[in-house]
Amino acid sequence: MSESSLTDSLRNGAGQRQLRFIDLFAGLGGFHLALRNLGHRCVFASEIDETLQETYLENFGMTPAGDIRDVAVESIPSHDILCAGFPCQPFSKARDHSEPADPELSELYKQILRVIQHHHPQFLILENVPNFERHEEGQTWERVKDLLRGEGYSVELEKLSPHEFDIPQIRQRIYIVGSRSPLGKFRWPEKSKTKVSVDSVLDSCPEEARQLPEQVDQCLDIWQEFLDLIPKDEKVPHPLWSMEFGATYSYEGTTPWATDVETLRGQRGSHGTSLSQAKTKEEMLALLPSHARAEQQEFPGWKVAFIKKNREFYSRHRTWLDGWMEKIREYPSSFQKLEWNCQERDPRREVRRIRDYVIQIRASGVRVKRNTTAPSLVAMTSTQVPIIGWEGRYMTPLECKRLQSMDELNLPARNTRAYAALGNAINVTVAQLVAEALLATEDTDATRILGRPEWAPDLGQLALEEASSVDQLSVASKEPV
Ligand SMILES: C[S@@+](CC[C@H](N)C(=O)[O-])C[C@H]1O[C@@H](n2cnc3c(N)ncnc32)[C@H](O)[C@@H]1O
Repeated sequence: MSESSLTDSLRNGAGQRQLRFIDLFAGLGGFHLALRNLGHRCVFASEIDETLQETYLENFGMTPAGDIRDVAVESIPSHDILCAGFPCQPFSKARDHSEPADPELSELYKQILRVIQHHHPQFLILENVPNFERHEEGQTWERVKDLLRGEGYSVELEKLSPHEFDIPQIRQRIYIVGSRSPLGKFRWPEKSKTKVSVDSVLDSCPEEARQLPEQVDQCLDIWQEFLDLIPKDEKVPHPLWSMEFGATYSYEGTTPWATDVETLRGQRGSHGTSLSQAKTKEEMLALLPSHARAEQQEFPGWKVAFIKKNREFYSRHRTWLDGWMEKIREYPSSFQKLEWNCQERDPRREVRRIRDYVIQIRASGVRVKRNTTAPSLVAMTSTQVPIIGWEGRYMTPLECKRLQSMDELNLPARNTRAYAALGNAINVTVAQLVAEALLATEDTDATRILGRPEWAPDLGQLALEEASSVDQLSVASKEPV
């Protein structure tokens, strides 16, 4: 598409200047909502998942095309802005790195390039996980940057999270913006210094909230017991890997995988389990913490340091830890680790009541956080939905929608699908602020916003024209919802 189409679209709209955008890898339509809030019009969307296609139709009155790989670029209408939050699994740190990245997924960003090469929209807004920038030692990003520059774009990349814009969710994401004009005037949205609280998105004891399963409830009691037993002036190790308590397998300069069976037979694995009871090396490895089973000659330095710290903690406190660890060893591995993110400089001032906090059970452990922010919503399983400790329940889909500034959107009917879709989505307020800043570089009139929250940074001359989207974004405001 040429610059003339931008001009055309500016001339179109009756009195209201409107740009045309496309929403690739559309998901719940976070970009759609953000751009619509700014007064622009979606002319094409693509989403492979049928449930999400139906939800998109319900929310936006259009059915996205399916697999983008099957879409002929000529069939995509010309547009001014290309938006894409492309699949993040290949670039995510949370991916299981023992499995190779799915090459088809890794190649999906090339689909975006295919559309760009044909249509050359004026603006690009792309979103992904922060690790995208570091993927393959930065080579992936360098390659994408070069390709975009080769197509005539100026590009910028920045890491942004909703909590920097008064929304109580920590969700670091990279945004890449591109323009066919120089981006010299472009400024990323200004970050706010206001303290936020998860209370602003919570309902009080909502009836529909899922209560904690017995296993989770009891596990929290066991971690509370730990917090009651640890001396007040002792810091809670971070991360705490209870499986290392009583373990004696070799980890410095070698690994269990690189150790011979005879030596292993005399060592101990998770929670002090003797490896002599296993017959084969495979069985022995199964008695070790999962972090110790890697097939490598040496562990990386950070892992050695974590193991060492936990073993030293155990030697100082084994008198009370031996009894306590008998209880935690019955639980799955992720429950046996604690990520205590509530440290005070002086540990005696810490409130060590686990149910006073926001909790999330992640593969890396039971993460406990202050109520200033919710942890990042993730798409993997509904057991990872944040837990409101003081109400003994999971966050509801409605509360999670507020964390994504998506209050007004319908979600897939099944809660598991709804949580997964929210965990995959972009935060609408952040996307909207990025789009607003980018579009302001071209023509201030063209990017007049139709409404923005009172708290949003003043990005220039842009006037508040309609009050409606202030309500839409109230989740992000400092007002209790
Ligand atoms: C990271 S999510 C994007 C979420 C979206 N930005 C939002 O706000 O909800 C990536 C989406 O791409 C979709 N997807 C994956 N492969 C696709 C393909 N080949 N064609 C179209 N969509 C695809 C996934 O189903 C998923 O919903």
